[in-house]
Amino acid sequence: MSMTFTPLTPNFAAEVAGIDLTRPLSRDQVQAIDDGMDRWGVLVFHGQRFDDETQLAFSRNFGDLEISSGAEMSKPEENRLRVEMADISNLDAQNRVRAADDRKRLGSLGNRLWHSDASFRAVPAKYSLLSARIVPPTGGNTEFADMRSAYDALDEATKAEIEDLITEHSNAYSREMIGFPKAAYGAEFQDKLRPVRHRLVRYDPDTGRKSLYLSAHIGAVLGWPIPEARAYIRDLMEHATQRQFVYAHTWKVWDLVIWDNRTTMHRARRYNDLTDIRDMRRSTIRGEGMTVQQAA
Ligand code: OGA
Ligand code: MN
Repeated sequence: MSMTFTPLTPNFAAEVAGIDLTRPLSRDQVQAIDDGMDRWGVLVFHGQRFDDETQLAFSRNFGDLEISSGAEMSKPEENRLRVEMADISNLDAQNRVRAADDRKRLGSLGNRLWHSDASFRAVPAKYSLLSARIVPPTGGNTEFADMRSAYDALDEATKAEIEDLITEHSNAYSREMIGFPKAAYGAEFQDKLRPVRHRLVRYDPDTGRKSLYLSAHIGAVLGWPIPEARAYIRDLMEHATQRQFVYAHTWKVWDLVIWDNRTTMHRARRYNDLTDIRDMRRSTIRGEGMTVQQAA
């Protein structure tokens, strides 16, 4: 059976059928998925019965894996999963539902803001692969925004204005936005919060397309007063997350969704995380370079 791609919106996100990702893939199959990512930005696969081992093996087809920032920012005994798996669940290391005032729960609420994964790293993430192991009965969608279409829809004056802008990203900025203090991370992790610089407009030589590189982790525009920068970024965020640019994914157990962090943003939607269990596990492919050095 060969792979089929069915669009989920006219230009953005597709559902892929006809492949079992838990088994070793051929070069051609990997290439077809990579090409699909270039075309659609987000790919949805159903019925992929991954465990952590098979998810990581599949993920390695697309590049080197990141160590999850959640694991990097906590003590080893606090982690439920191995360090290559980002724990996108409401469970603690003993598989208990986290309490309302749990520090990790509060930090993870930052995922409810529109963001691009690991944009707070000098070399930010390429793909994220999120596997649904347990889904809540209601809520907990993930929304994706198409940052290539959002860029294309800007007027020419705005495109010219933003072409060479450099932004500063830090996990501290996004957490600050929801009132989670920098100090809550502890002294030993403060160097991980140092802002990094990225281009606001990214260009992909493979597709010839530009995209808006926005993220809740942005806290500054180089050379701009902070309030002006934040007001401007907020306007761009509003533009880029209009419904015509968004695909909302309702999860079923054993879904795997892959998104390209270079051309999309995403956010988590609310669910009853004090009563229902949501166990999602993310592997993340390291990017291929610093955005500030990319050829224009
Ligand atoms: C992520 C993320 C959103 C969600 O896994 O990087 O932001 O809906 N997840 O859990
Ligand atoms: Mn994310």
